[in-house]
Amino acid sequence: MKNIAVLTSGGDAPGMNAAIRAVVRIALLEKLKVFGIYNGYQGLVDNQILPLHKKSVGNIIHRGGTILKSARSKDFQSKEGRNKAYQNLVEHQIDAVIVIGGDGTFAGAIQFTQEFNIPFIGIPGTIDNDLFGTDYTIGFKSAVQTAMECVDKIRDTANAFKRLFFIEVMGRDVGAIALATGIATGAEDIFIPETKTNLIDLSERLKRGTDKESYIIIVSEGDDKGGAENIAAEFKKTHPEYDIKTLVLGHLLRGGNPTAEDRILAARLGVAAVQSLIQKEFNVMIGIQRNEIAKTPLHLCKKHFLKINEEWENLIYKLS
Ligand code: F6P
Repeated sequence: MKNIAVLTSGGDAPGMNAAIRAVVRIALLEKLKVFGIYNGYQGLVDNQILPLHKKSVGNIIHRGGTILKSARSKDFQSKEGRNKAYQNLVEHQIDAVIVIGGDGTFAGAIQFTQEFNIPFIGIPGTIDNDLFGTDYTIGFKSAVQTAMECVDKIRDTANAFKRLFFIEVMGRDVGAIALATGIATGAEDIFIPETKTNLIDLSERLKRGTDKESYIIIVSEGDDKGGAENIAAEFKKTHPEYDIKTLVLGHLLRGGNPTAEDRILAARLGVAAVQSLIQKEFNVMIGIQRNEIAKTPLHLCKKHFLKINEEWENLIYKLS
């Protein structure tokens, strides 16, 4: 193991830069050469591969986004594209690749390792927190912090007018961001893809709280009723008594400086990823489980949905 490469892929997440920094710095300390692959798998196909040095990752630990950029790559999905990618890795004499991303990123890595004898290590970097094998993905807590601060601001103006806000958050088809944000902000209801949304239940719940100053409903973008705008339009038809507004937080949740916890998580996972390569533990995802580093075979690290137990039900429905 002499030369390794690192790339970021899929939706960027606050903390990805902290992970890149850890990978580069620990690899250089272990006398490895480190290459950055720019623009995700598309950059691997297009040979956008450059050496990284200690200073390449200076002053980025606190920055959102990714200095290596990301891309959704059609070329990498073809055998021809992956052949080109392999040739580029051979040309640079790269022995292994560390990929920072989500389930789509890992699917690409698994496909590649089945065709070419180049090992990969996965680092879970996505705000969705939707991966089997880790309690937290890099970026999740930062996204929840951002969402919570936005919702707190909305609560101020909603209280001024006794308004009902449907606020949509990202998460693709998993409700982790919505659930955490809803509980942290004392939302009156939380709609997630893992449970069927029932507007009659919502109506009953709101009626019981008629003396409230405002109503905040957090909606995961993957909700079965199609998101905040659709739900608000439907609810308005039968509830003219509410002054209803909607807000889609969208890509706001992808930006901003990573929280301390995400920076620390990123540093831990980045170091462990390089050490895994040195110890020849290949094709695993480096996760965190009960605050310990945990290695899971990459092919098992698929999308993982919420399990809403009684505790979560109580937190959602009994506290607001
Ligand atoms: O996977 C991260 C994520 O932010 C999802 O929550 C969201 O649905 C998706 O990426 C958006 O992708 P894009 O930035 O390509 O629109």
